Amino acid sequence: MREQLEALKVESLTKLSAASSVEELEAVRVQTLGKKGDLTKILRGLGKVDPKERPKLGVLANEIKVEFNQALEAQQSVLKKSAMEARLKEEQIDITLPGRSPAIGSIHPISRALDELTTIFTHMGFPPATGPEVENDWYNFGALNIPADHPAREMHDTFYLPPAHDGGKRVLRTHTSSVQVHFMENRQPPIRMIAPGKVFRCDSDITHTPMFHQIEGVLVDEGVNFGQLKGLIETFLHRFFERELPVRFRPSFFPFTEPSAEADMGCIFCDAKGCRICKNTGWIEILGCGMIHPNVLKNVDIDTEKYSGFAFGMGVERLAMLKYGINDLRTFFENDLRFLQRHATVGGE
Ligand code: DAH
Repeated sequence: MREQLEALKVESLTKLSAASSVEELEAVRVQTLGKKGDLTKILRGLGKVDPKERPKLGVLANEIKVEFNQALEAQQSVLKKSAMEARLKEEQIDITLPGRSPAIGSIHPISRALDELTTIFTHMGFPPATGPEVENDWYNFGALNIPADHPAREMHDTFYLPPAHDGGKRVLRTHTSSVQVHFMENRQPPIRMIAPGKVFRCDSDITHTPMFHQIEGVLVDEGVNFGQLKGLIETFLHRFFERELPVRFRPSFFPFTEPSAEADMGCIFCDAKGCRICKNTGWIEILGCGMIHPNVLKNVDIDTEKYSGFAFGMGVERLAMLKYGINDLRTFFENDLRFLQRHATVGGE
């Protein structure tokens, strides 16, 4: 019996150290210490052994059992550790890889157009500026050479707000031209800026929404002329529409510019069948512009003997409609997911 026990010890310990997986280990354990295991059988058979021999054999069998269990545990932890290492290696993630933005939300086509326009003008040396959406009469009208009784006020369908504490008239700005005044009153030439933002007019039909977006641009310096303005507008339109387009200037009227003009660009939708967009004229009106009226410069303390400047203003919805082929202004503000998905860029793109 002693030899049997010694042989079993060697055999079972060898099997333990040869086991290469947790499953194999378990099989060795069952084979040795399970209900019908080899050691279990021997321990059960102790009763039939000569009583003199029994205690010694019992001690030996128990020692083997303890040793086996210790070896089993040690081998278990070795195998578990290497299994964990293998798994970590397999599931390794490279935290230095760039993240992926979730497919939730997207950039609205108006924001996209504003971003594109701002980038183009910034590259041409016109950094963006902002101003308040709630304005007083002076910034929206007076300083821009539109006095109280001026008929041009009628053109603007102004939203009037309750007067300020000092009794001053307050309005929702009807154009971003008001930002010109804020920007210039604190500076001296050379001045360059664009002002993208929301504007408000009490008007709502197929081609008008009470809130829309404009971009205003200003340049004031010595010796500024109309030719430079035309060159800038042409370059900007070519960059925005990513093609060479004919641009023409028509004389127009704005109180804050003199002379004033409206710029048209060649229609990009016309085909042989005729065109609803330009009504077969071949031209699409795109912006207002002109040389800044001396009264406006005087209102912000800029010396009109020394300096001159130009300004321009355009509607962002219109530019976005033309560029992205959107034919109904109101769709911008309905938040119909099908529209947004068709015309939006996914966040982060
Ligand atoms: N403020 C004008 C509007 O809202 C647009 C405009 C026209 C801006 C001519 C200008 C300009 O700076 O020179 O209709």
